[in-house]
Amino acid sequence: MKVYNTIVSRRTIRKFQQKPIKLSILKRIVNAGRLAPSTGNLQPLEYVIAVDDTLREKIFPNARWAGYIAPEGNPKNNERPAAYIIILVNKEISFSSFFKYDVGASAENITLAALEEGIGCCWIGSFNRKKIQNILKIPVGYSVDLVLALGYPLEDPEYYDIKKGKPIKYYKDVSGVLHIPKRKLDDIIHIDYF
Ligand SMILES: Cc1cc2nc3c(=O)[nH]c(=O)nc-3n(C[C@H](O)[C@H](O)[C@H](O)COP(=O)(O)O)c2cc1C
Repeated sequence: MKVYNTIVSRRTIRKFQQKPIKLSILKRIVNAGRLAPSTGNLQPLEYVIAVDDTLREKIFPNARWAGYIAPEGNPKNNERPAAYIIILVNKEISFSSFFKYDVGASAENITLAALEEGIGCCWIGSFNRKKIQNILKIPVGYSVDLVLALGYPLEDPEYYDIKKGKPIKYYKDVSGVLHIPKRKLDDIIHIDYF
């Protein structure tokens, strides 16, 4: 798939096939994250790949899914992620708040590299940091910044353009398809001057 098509076809996935992802693929995906732009080329990010059954069971309840439609948007028992990639920040290396850009760039590289492999992803910023830190035995010098849940998709959400001022909350229709409102390009683009 062309990069542009991959980007525009990406949607957040929260229902996954119960099929493992090869570790070699997960490492390849993380490599795409590693090579993302980094503020001052400081590269404060490290990654935990969590695939072990018991570990995934412990991680799952500490993530919050699809807040606008909770608990309807929670993956069911047979829809849970096949893997997690947890993005850590080495606090000794990072300074100011610029590391957030690094995390975003890295996470998007990971998401798109995963999509190229047919793997869906959900970014989880809303999770119990203390619990995840303990579960994964993360040393104190690191913070857990973002959890990425991954797996082969079991859903195919759709986006639609909304007019100015219309609600931005995603919803599921009667057949369970997730619809994601996006602000229209013409409403957010400014050529030369605002
Ligand atoms: C920084 C960040 C944090 C997010 N945290 C969560 C989360 O905790 N739980 C969740 O279900 N989705 C989370 N999402 C996914 C958003 O809900 C999703 O990107 C948004 O609804 C737009 O849908 P789309 O990704 O399909 O375009 C997060 C996205 C971003 C960028």
